[in-house]
Amino acid sequence: RILQDGCKNIGGRRANKSFSIMSSEIDGGDGDGDDISPVTVILPEEEADITKLSVIHDDLTSELQRQFIRSINSSLSIRQLRSQGLSFQLWPAATTLVNLLDKQRSHPETNPLTPTLTALRNSSECRTLNILEIGSGTGLVGIAAAATLGAKVTVTDLSHVISNLQFNVEANADVVAANGGCVRAASLHWGEPIDAELIGQEFDLILASDVVYHDHLYDPLIQTLRSFLLDGGNPKMVLLMAHLRRWKKDSAFLKKARKFFEVDVLHTDPPAPGSRIGVVVYRFAAKQSKKPAIVSAKRG
Ligand SMILES: C[S@@+](CC[C@H](N)C(=O)[O-])C[C@H]1O[C@@H](n2cnc3c(N)ncnc32)[C@H](O)[C@@H]1O
Repeated sequence: RILQDGCKNIGGRRANKSFSIMSSEIDGGDGDGDDISPVTVILPEEEADITKLSVIHDDLTSELQRQFIRSINSSLSIRQLRSQGLSFQLWPAATTLVNLLDKQRSHPETNPLTPTLTALRNSSECRTLNILEIGSGTGLVGIAAAATLGAKVTVTDLSHVISNLQFNVEANADVVAANGGCVRAASLHWGEPIDAELIGQEFDLILASDVVYHDHLYDPLIQTLRSFLLDGGNPKMVLLMAHLRRWKKDSAFLKKARKFFEVDVLHTDPPAPGSRIGVVVYRFAAKQSKKPAIVSAKRG
């Protein structure tokens, strides 16, 4: 289900939504809770690129993270609900992609994403990139992509994650629109048939961060990627996937993926303190067919 198509408002002014949390939004009630505005009340002046604050409300801790995106001189605000599970928090690979997108906008000449983005823009009919994010979680990556690339983005996840995703989409709609982008949220379950009418198929780019973790999800994830990258409407579509390897078995996913896709490493982050491995950004593209070129025989 698509909750709100923010993309209809591309370029236009949106109503100035207050970034407030109704208790009902968190506990699933139906709307009588107190209205609080944690962003306006609590957010301190910016000292670093990331500012965090926690609000305890109805026994749930909702954490608002404000991430400053230098290239657009604006902050994005993301609500995390850590106690609700892994889909409601920001994972390390997301931060890597957001930083790369930010730097790509300000310094495209040295950025590892630039060749891919330039090629996609050149082949895209309208130059506005149409992007799908899968396993979006909080949606920060998709929202940052919309803002930094001026792109039309669909952020997706399992159905129960959509209300928080939608919250974050709406909270950042003004910043995104001011930079020529738009975001909408929709549910997309890996391995299940894709409702092409609802989601669309003709994307230029798929984004994903930290989506490889449980091995029972490898096959459904690859199935969904095949549907878009191999059977979708755009043969030039690529996936940029940021991944922090945690288990040896993660390599089984890449091995399976290489059967269907060309997989290249575009970027590797230095390991975080105390870690041996950094986040890696992969580019997946449909395998070029190995059919021999037809050479016309010379007459004579
Ligand atoms: C580890 S989290 C990463 C979230 C986010 N991309 C980030 O980096 O912060 C993995 C995400 O994949 C989603 N996910 C897991 N299984 C899924 C499935 N079968 N279909 C769609 N999304 C799924 C989860 O709900 C979760 O949001």
